[in-house]
Amino acid sequence: MRILLYIVLLISQCFALEKHILSSIDINRNDIAAKQRGAQVFFNYCSGCHSLQYVRYSDMARDLKIFNKQGMVDKDIILNYLNFVNDDYRSQAVNAMSTEDAISWFGKRPPDLSLETRVRGNNWIYTFLKSYYVDPKRPTGVNNLLFKDVAMPNPFSALQGLQYPIIDEHGNVVGLKKDPTKTVAELESYDRTLKDLVAFLDYVAEPHKQQRLQLGRYVMLFLVVFSLTAYLYYREVWKDVE
Ligand code: HEC
Repeated sequence: MRILLYIVLLISQCFALEKHILSSIDINRNDIAAKQRGAQVFFNYCSGCHSLQYVRYSDMARDLKIFNKQGMVDKDIILNYLNFVNDDYRSQAVNAMSTEDAISWFGKRPPDLSLETRVRGNNWIYTFLKSYYVDPKRPTGVNNLLFKDVAMPNPFSALQGLQYPIIDEHGNVVGLKKDPTKTVAELESYDRTLKDLVAFLDYVAEPHKQQRLQLGRYVMLFLVVFSLTAYLYYREVWKDVE
């Protein structure tokens, strides 16, 4: 019993620590423009290393309303601005990096990010991308407060600038100093870029969520109406028996 109690306490402590460090963001799932901007950010900054293997460009373009004047999925936008790997606008969003190269460069293959927001959560990814700091001991020159000794370099060092660690007397990193050369407006714009990116990754992890939620309302309505009719029918049938 006592061991069980310790385990529960330990787990709740882990959650408390995670909570303490994670910044939270709100995603507006109806904001198509934000997801379109997020897609642009993903394919420019992340797709060189990460794939989105469960997503097809054409499905994504349809959901994000990337249409041409005829109201069809815009192949030109896909092939010029999103798919840098092949010339099939319906292909899955794989990437061109070979596993051998990835291992020799980073020590591991960058994971596929199709389901990343479901594994880690939106807040985690947002905080992760804001938690890079300069660490000359690392091969990439940076470390991450949320993901210690991460093999991924900071994709946004140009937008965010260089953050430096605040170190306590025991040598632990307890916070981060923002880059003083970046203006408030620049950092706010960087923050919006991250939010758009997370909104896009949130969409990718569950493309049909909006339809599911809308359909859910009708299903609930149907169940209420059906239960009522079934009950009235039951009363009608059993009234003579009793
Ligand atoms: C230069 C290659 C490279 C680029 C560009 C890159 N990543 Fe990564 N990423 C990696 C590698 C390598 C890892 C594995 C890190 C590890 O396990 O230490 C990783 C890990 C991650 C993880 C953590 C996965 C997990 O759950 O363990 C996330 C989230 C992530 N990347 C998001 C992004 C996003 C979003 C972008 C674009 C803004 C991006 N990455 C750009 C190489 C890259």
